[in-house]
Amino acid sequence: FSLKEYNTFGIDVKALAILSVTSVSDLQDVLQEKEASELFVIGGGSNMLLTKDINKYAVHINIKGYTIVDLPCGENEIILKVAGGENWHDFVLYCINHGYGGVENLSLIPGNVGTAPIQNIGAYGVELKDVFYECEAVSRDDGSLKTFSLEDCAFGYRDSIFKTTLKDQYVITSVTFKLTTKNHEVKTAYGAIADTLREQGITTPTIKDVSDAVIKIRQAKLPDPKEIGNSGSFFKNPVISQAAFSALRKKYPDAPYYPVGSDQIKVPAGWLIEQAGFKGKRFGDAGVHDKQALVLVNHGNATGSEIWDLALKIQDSIKVKFGLIITPEVNVF
Ligand code: EPU
Repeated sequence: FSLKEYNTFGIDVKALAILSVTSVSDLQDVLQEKEASELFVIGGGSNMLLTKDINKYAVHINIKGYTIVDLPCGENEIILKVAGGENWHDFVLYCINHGYGGVENLSLIPGNVGTAPIQNIGAYGVELKDVFYECEAVSRDDGSLKTFSLEDCAFGYRDSIFKTTLKDQYVITSVTFKLTTKNHEVKTAYGAIADTLREQGITTPTIKDVSDAVIKIRQAKLPDPKEIGNSGSFFKNPVISQAAFSALRKKYPDAPYYPVGSDQIKVPAGWLIEQAGFKGKRFGDAGVHDKQALVLVNHGNATGSEIWDLALKIQDSIKVKFGLIITPEVNVF
């Protein structure tokens, strides 16, 4: 069974079969019938690079639905439980249409709701953890359903417990969000958002204005996976010490950066990759996007290993040129 339609890089590798689960109990049945080691779980397929055939059964999490739940929250807030198989951007649009604030900055991020917590998706000054209330996940080991609080998830920059201690041990089946219903405090400090709103003469932006601005910015910079296969940012932005950053700035006075906490600096990997000369480069069908160097693309028929070879080449070149290590954000299989 080809997984080409199930990963946004559009890599044509095979799994033994695909099992689509539409409820928690469906998933629990599959986990009971098969060993955890025989299964390969797929959500939106937007954060994975498949480099060879997967000799396992692919489990497609296709659980749908929205429920308002009665949990303690502020007067102008609502608690919304969303099934893991809902598409992330559809969820954002659902919120905008219902007047629920909090996720507008996260418009147009590929993937599904259930996979969003794994790497604490983030963009334009907002991260999933800012609106996260709790999530439910099924243990791959014994099929039990467990609830994880915000604290349990140990969210960090593109990181959570589901990538570390509990890696591959749970399947997230729903995420519950805390959203605002009134007096939204929109976050527009991120340069590109502020610029876009200013250009449009919008001074008191609604959540829809912010969402529209983000969509505009992303469409201008990031390739649509339906047209060109990709997984968004391929690498994480490296976080380095002040001292290491000072050394970098001596050689490259214009290096962009974001402070992290009081003593660390995040350097945009896209800038490093552009400086290393890879922006817009193409090696067969594996390439680097011409408008955002952090995004690797499949121009058609690249294999996963061709893309991985390119990633390694870039990684190596950044190490030689800057002495910095950039690590993949996507999961490589
Ligand atoms: N830059 C370059 N050349 C490039 C790309 C970027 O010089 O080809 C420099 C620019 O100077 C820019 C800076 O890098 O000022 C930052 O670029 P951008 O605002 O596009 O953000 P980013 O750091 O490249 C991160 C996230 C994105 C998210 C944006 C906006 C990571 C790994 N990526 O990218 O997330 O949309 O910020 O918040 O943190 C994703 O995860 O798939 C993703 C797209």
